Amino acid sequence: MTLTIVGSQLGDEGKGALVDRWGGDADVVVRYQGGDNAGHTVVEGGAEYKLSLVPSGAVRGTVGVLGNGCVVNPRTLFSEIDGLRERGLDPDVRVARRAHVILPYHRVLDGIEEEVKADDDAGDEVGTTGRGIGPTYEDKAGRRGVRVADLLDPGVLREKLEYAVPQKRAIVEDVYGLEIDGDEERAEAFDVDALHQEFAAIGERLADEGMTVNCSDYLHRRHEAGDEILFEGAQGTHIDVDHGNYPFVTSSNPTAGAAAVGSGLGVTKVGDGEVVGIVKAYLSRVGEGPMPTELDGDADEEALADDIREKGGEFGTVTGRPRRIGWLDLPMLRHAARVSGFTGLAVNHVDVLAGLDGLKVCTGYELDGEEIDTVPTTTDRWERCEPVYESLDTWAEFDSAAVAEEGYDALPEAAREYLEFVADETDTPVYAVGVGPDREETVELVNPFDA
Ligand code: GDP
Ligand code: IMO
Ligand code: MG
Repeated sequence: MTLTIVGSQLGDEGKGALVDRWGGDADVVVRYQGGDNAGHTVVEGGAEYKLSLVPSGAVRGTVGVLGNGCVVNPRTLFSEIDGLRERGLDPDVRVARRAHVILPYHRVLDGIEEEVKADDDAGDEVGTTGRGIGPTYEDKAGRRGVRVADLLDPGVLREKLEYAVPQKRAIVEDVYGLEIDGDEERAEAFDVDALHQEFAAIGERLADEGMTVNCSDYLHRRHEAGDEILFEGAQGTHIDVDHGNYPFVTSSNPTAGAAAVGSGLGVTKVGDGEVVGIVKAYLSRVGEGPMPTELDGDADEEALADDIREKGGEFGTVTGRPRRIGWLDLPMLRHAARVSGFTGLAVNHVDVLAGLDGLKVCTGYELDGEEIDTVPTTTDRWERCEPVYESLDTWAEFDSAAVAEEGYDALPEAAREYLEFVADETDTPVYAVGVGPDREETVELVNPFDA
């Protein structure tokens, strides 16, 4: 069967922790979209691993695949693999030959576009991770991308670079009016010979290590053989390029439908499995865009956001930026549950909300005098939404390790009520509850591989 893990909010919901938790029961873990903009944390016995590209089953020793829907920066991939090897792991990663490659000029272009947007005071910069994600997906859609397969053939690679690089150069110099050759790092990113040398060598390493696959064929065969396949979504529903808060989004589809498209395993195979939405018990956002329940109204709210941020370690895994904090937003979860067809939820960070003086959940919005229960389609309308809150009982601090060991009934009563409220409002059962970052600090009600 298959299990698809999807972020139900704005990313960083703790997807890595659940992929690790259930990755031991999977035979293959597949990323189907995104690239090294992801930062997935796995904590095992106190040892913390931060993974951007290597699928989070690696800590369990499960083979990882980067599907055709991913954009792959091979520099990041190899440095991550090397780093994990130094720590005693032996990650087995396969990369789809149809996946697109993030080249150095994509990162430069990402940075330039963000700077230009920030400078024009219109407030339309996205706050990207600067990893070149958007420009690489643009080239994929524009049919000028370089794919992993192209790295394996130096002649083809040269042709592709000779076509793409002059165009990119012209954008920087003629559209943005910026210099390339005055800056050594930038000059190298637009130098066909230098790029060819580096990326052909990367192709050789990929070939030597037998790392590339025809992803669809590979997964089809594994599935036919009865293997369990876990799809690891990156980012989250509300930064999905179609279903999220456009244009404050990433450039791919984190939602579950993309697991089929981004891997080549058929929709009927993926759709026959489980889809678990990962929920943070409150809300965090890194980057720009609306957030109706953000705790930034007055000094008290800001102090509360600071406390939650510190306690929850809410600083970006990839960029280190402090994450914005807000109350749980149910309209967002309803949208996420519908778009991906969640069969279960995993609610993380329940420990972080312990010991608060008051606890609120947004159950709907008021917009132009009307009450609505889902997220409007435009940024402008979402920004104008006033949250409608329900206050719930708070719970005291508890011993996470003991609760995780004893099970669901050992959670404080008010925490269970909170979880049941979320399950009711989204019409989706809770499969797991996160009470701490460690693999063992998860209360499991249902293992989706047994569901
Ligand atoms: P991802 O991108 O969805 O995988 O999430 P990140 O790894 O970026 O951010 C989640 C952070 O919360 C990481 O530091 C995790 O170790 C941590 N975490 C995950 N689940 C829990 C939980 O239930 N409680 C606490 N306190 N931390 C958690
Ligand atoms: P994981 O997988 C949270 C955000 C960026 C920015 C927007 C676009 O760890 O949950 P991009 O670099 O993708 O073009 O940036 O998306 N973003 C994330 N936010 N978690 C992530 O990944 C994210 N990946 C991208 O902050 O607002
Ligand atoms: Mg993350």
